[in-house]
Amino acid sequence: MKIFVTGCAGLLGANYSRHLLANGHQVIGIDDLSGGHKAFIPKGENFQFVKLNLERRKKVEELFEEHRPDVLLHFAAYAAEGLSPFIRNYNYRNNLICSANLINPCITYGVKMIFTSSMAVYGAQEPPFTEDKQPQPIDPYGMAKYAVECDLKMAHQQFGLRYNIVRPHNVLGIYQNIWDRYRNVIGIFIRKTLNDQPILVYGDGEQTRAFSDIQYYMEPFDILLSEFDGETFNIGADKYFSLNQVAETVQSIGKKYGYDVPIEHGPPRHEAKHAYCNHDKAKNLLKFKDDTKLEELIEDMFVWAMKQPNRKVKDMEYEVTEGIYEYWKK
Ligand SMILES: NC(=O)c1ccc[n+]([C@@H]2O[C@H](COP(=O)([O-])OP(=O)(O)OC[C@H]3O[C@@H](n4cnc5c(N)ncnc54)[C@H](O)[C@@H]3O)[C@@H](O)[C@H]2O)c1
Repeated sequence: MKIFVTGCAGLLGANYSRHLLANGHQVIGIDDLSGGHKAFIPKGENFQFVKLNLERRKKVEELFEEHRPDVLLHFAAYAAEGLSPFIRNYNYRNNLICSANLINPCITYGVKMIFTSSMAVYGAQEPPFTEDKQPQPIDPYGMAKYAVECDLKMAHQQFGLRYNIVRPHNVLGIYQNIWDRYRNVIGIFIRKTLNDQPILVYGDGEQTRAFSDIQYYMEPFDILLSEFDGETFNIGADKYFSLNQVAETVQSIGKKYGYDVPIEHGPPRHEAKHAYCNHDKAKNLLKFKDDTKLEELIEDMFVWAMKQPNRKVKDMEYEVTEGIYEYWKK
């Protein structure tokens, strides 16, 4: 197939593009490098990279006109959930408007869209979340994802747009941006350790999350390329851990490689205390099988991170500074 992958320089896009190329597909990867890195983009004769900010609606339409893809995997986003209340405009432009800019040509050119939403749509409800729970996002990031989900459903009903939604959560793997101070908690812990800085846990650290190995997303995505329409699936690990446990795991792996840093606690953030999903639907319909071995996975990432250049950590421009956390003040 000829497949568009947005966010091809990020965690899901870089990994899944490689998987598609290995399986003989033709991939056109789109990314503006705002949150991913050039070095993570795949190479190969069946791969073409287009550097483009998806906010540029006309340019996006021209790309569809030029390539006429069969399917679009829309991974591009700025997934900094905790920061999203302080960057509302950026959040909605990046996560909602950019998606609208893709839904339009998907309607026009009859392209099926696989959209990665997020567990964030469930908000602070009682976990484990099942797909039939009414979304109740608690921040602009979750709201943007939910809005796109609703928009896809409307486009399906009115125009027959084919789409599927995946709600991933806490994905881990190489090609993750660990140089962003606002997201990817394990990546941040690893970067801090490698820089001999304390691992900072927000709040009491008893928040729970289920971190999942990216390799188990590949087969479900493959199935969604050609099967199902209008369906939503949770994908991720079943087993959850507290952030204290995760911090201790990173700390002990760090020690193994000669980095000995303390764990510290900072003020709590506005976030769901416990968040993890039920994955029965994906297991039953998408052959999803999770065999995440968190400690081994973190060690693999740690070893990968040791070989990476010490990239610059960027500050975002805050749109609201009211109530910004101490550790995010500049
Ligand atoms: N990684 C997770 O744990 C997780 C969990 C839930 C949902 N998701 C969703 O899955 C998708 C992929 O996540 P990821 O972890 O690979 O993210 P990522 O940040 O690693 O990759 C996203 C990529 O999109 C690109 N991008 C962002 N805005 C863009 C724009 N306006 N134009 C063009 N490119 C743009 C970035 O440069 C980056 O390379 C996202 O939609 C995210 O919301 C991820």
